[in-house]
Amino acid sequence: MLPALFSPLKLGPFELAHRVVLAPLTRMRAEPGTLAPHVLNAEYYAQRATPGGLLIAEASPVLPTGFGNPNVPGIYSGAQVAGWKRVTDAVHAKGGIIFLQLWHVGRVSHSSYQPGGALPLAPSAVAIGGDLKTMTADGKVASYETPRALVTEEIPEIVTAYRRAAHNAVAAGFDGVEIHGANGYLIEQFLQSHTNQRTDRYGGSIEHRTRFLLEVTQAVVDVWGADRVGVRLSPYGIANGSGEPDPMPLYTRAVEALNSFKLAYLHLLEPRSSGAGRADVDWRNVPSAMVLFRPIWNGVLMAAGGFVGDTANAAIADGYADVVAFGRYFISNPDLPRRLAHGFPLTPYHRPTFYGGAEKGYTDYPAYDEMAEA
Ligand SMILES: Cc1cc2nc3c(=O)[nH]c(=O)nc-3n(C[C@H](O)[C@H](O)[C@H](O)COP(=O)(O)O)c2cc1C
Repeated sequence: MLPALFSPLKLGPFELAHRVVLAPLTRMRAEPGTLAPHVLNAEYYAQRATPGGLLIAEASPVLPTGFGNPNVPGIYSGAQVAGWKRVTDAVHAKGGIIFLQLWHVGRVSHSSYQPGGALPLAPSAVAIGGDLKTMTADGKVASYETPRALVTEEIPEIVTAYRRAAHNAVAAGFDGVEIHGANGYLIEQFLQSHTNQRTDRYGGSIEHRTRFLLEVTQAVVDVWGADRVGVRLSPYGIANGSGEPDPMPLYTRAVEALNSFKLAYLHLLEPRSSGAGRADVDWRNVPSAMVLFRPIWNGVLMAAGGFVGDTANAAIADGYADVVAFGRYFISNPDLPRRLAHGFPLTPYHRPTFYGGAEKGYTDYPAYDEMAEA
């Protein structure tokens, strides 16, 4: 037993029974066409639900322009709301709590995913460079395109789309939402200086670059109330071509401004696992986000990135985090809280089945008890 990880915690209006959270995980298994969750997705989330345990459902675009991958579930249409309702019903039937992560990828897209084949949208016309490649909607490896810079008047429309998506998440039966401000996607593109070269009120100074994040947060808080809203950030991350030259001033300002909302939690991704969806990276000599920002953040702090039971327990016991989200090991261990509680061995994850496909690598990982019986 890892006592810190298995002590209860008040998070917003919820009494978490333990502190092992399912991290948001893109799995690309929504229904093609409608991009709505379906029976298989409900089964996957229900397998990972525990009484009083928190799940964060995968990043879900708030607009058709928000996609950069195939078969990702959306949260802007009636069919998607109905699909998600199946998921939330299945999780609630097991006593679980489920938040939805709201997403717009911005420049991390390709025209093949965009309505009318248009260029992806971003704060500025700066492409993801280097060796990074993307996969087009018809499965070809391609370089990233130079996105189209949003005109100022379009930005409040995107904020409104987050607001609509937040309403949709209410209709879909979620318990709350998490705003995806991490990993190089649209919100982070606004935050960081190399991707935001705007000269209007959304760019330039740190104050201006944090405006989009704060407007989105306000819109979502208007719908849900602050105590059912979390925000995910990845200071020092490098996913999807991101990276701020000097992250501390920017993220200090962002976290301080978020403090005033009194959110359910702040979710910080450790930079050592930045881009964990693409490869297993684990650098030892990088700063720890939770250590840096714990003194600045006044509320519940959720840490994620490269944790196992012992390190998660220590992070909580040492006061750096209140709750820990697990990604890859929750994929391969549907009963992860129970395994950590009892010290049972963990099933290794199978990276080739992370993205896309059907049951294999998704709902066919057995629980420990099933393995023992087999
Ligand atoms: C397959 C896969 C999909 C992911 N999808 C998302 C996502 O939709 N939203 C997000 O914020 N992070 C996403 N991540 C990052 C995870 O939430 C998590 O932060 C990361 O895997 C590090 O945690 P871990 O070491 O416990 O796996 C993804 C990671 C993986 C491996």
